[in-house]
Amino acid sequence: MANRTSKTVTLHVSSITGNTAQIAEGVRKTLDELGWTVFDAQPGAAPGTEVVVMCFWCRKSSLDPKSLEYLKRCKGKKILLFGTIGGWPAGKYGALVRANVTTTVEEHNECLGVFLCQGRVRQQRIDERRALPPDHPHYLDDWGVVRLTEGLNHPNATDILYAQAFARDYLPT
Ligand SMILES: Cc1cc2nc3c(=O)[nH]c(=O)nc-3n(C[C@H](O)[C@H](O)[C@H](O)COP(=O)(O)O)c2cc1C
Repeated sequence: MANRTSKTVTLHVSSITGNTAQIAEGVRKTLDELGWTVFDAQPGAAPGTEVVVMCFWCRKSSLDPKSLEYLKRCKGKKILLFGTIGGWPAGKYGALVRANVTTTVEEHNECLGVFLCQGRVRQQRIDERRALPPDHPHYLDDWGVVRLTEGLNHPNATDILYAQAFARDYLPT
């Protein structure tokens, strides 16, 4: 029989517009189903468990500021990460974000894996970026519009299911 007393995890969630919060709630259900006791991360306090699940939104191709701040409290932890991003999660950009996050986490901790899915960006922001001059770094070309328009559909039920499957694969046994 599994040793339930050792299955404790701290869940950190950073979400401004709610995308990452949706993924986090899906992962929380899976943690419950797998018999983990879940403690919510307390800002400013180090996690009291060896395993930490961090749910972040992507900023500057890496972790958001609140998640970076929480990471400073983590030393010698096993950390599994779930992120939502405006970019494509598959392909080169997703690989870059995963590499950046892994490198940052592994400075003082063990990275168990990084799950990514798209998260919607406000339509107003898409329109603003579309209206920028083409030489502006945030200008959206046609393919960029395709990407962020697709992003309006995410995270969806399938993204949450994929995140739950990822949690089942990469949580320590
Ligand atoms: C200030 C800001 C910076 C962002 N930077 C990036 C970025 O560098 N790469 C990216 O793929 N998405 C970026 N995004 C998109 C967000 O990561 C994405 O919409 C995410 O799902 C938001 O999560 P939340 O709803 O949990 O706050 C940025 C969004 C904001 C508001």
